[in-house]
Amino acid sequence: MTDEELIETAKAYRKRAYAPYSHFAVGAAVRTQSGRVYGGCNIENASYPVACCAERTAIFKAVSEGERAIEVLAVVADTDGPCAPCGMCRQAISEFRIPRILMANLKGEVREVTLQELLPFAFSEQDLG
Ligand code: THU
Repeated sequence: MTDEELIETAKAYRKRAYAPYSHFAVGAAVRTQSGRVYGGCNIENASYPVACCAERTAIFKAVSEGERAIEVLAVVADTDGPCAPCGMCRQAISEFRIPRILMANLKGEVREVTLQELLPFAFSEQDLG
C-alpha cells in the first residue's frame, strides 16, 4: 500500500470514530514491514481520561497482532493544518520507533515528519537503566 492509500485508509477509519463528547473525529493507520495495515479511530468514554486516540488504537492493534516493525503512521482529522499527534501518542510512536509520521487533514494537506522531529528528547527504555 502506498503512503497516499494509507492516508485514505486513515480517513476511512476516521468515520468509525466514537467521539460523542468532543465531536472531533480522528483516523489513523499504520503499515508494518510485513506490508499489513492496521487502522484505528479515537474512542471516547463518559469518564473522559479513559479515551484512546486514533493513533494509539492503530498502533495497539498492530502490536497485539504480533507486529512490532511499524514503518509509517498516518493520522487524519478535520484540522486547519495537517493533524499533529498528541503528546501521549508521540510517546507511543516513540516506543515502537516508528520512523515516519504522515500528518494530514481533510483538505488534502499532508506533512511528513520524522520521529526525531515529532518527539525530540524522548523518554525511552534507556532512561530506565
Ligand atoms: N485525538 C486523537 O485521536 N489523536 C490525537 O492525536 C489528538 C486527539 C482525539 C482524542 C479525543 O477523542 C479527541 O481527539 C479530542 O481531543
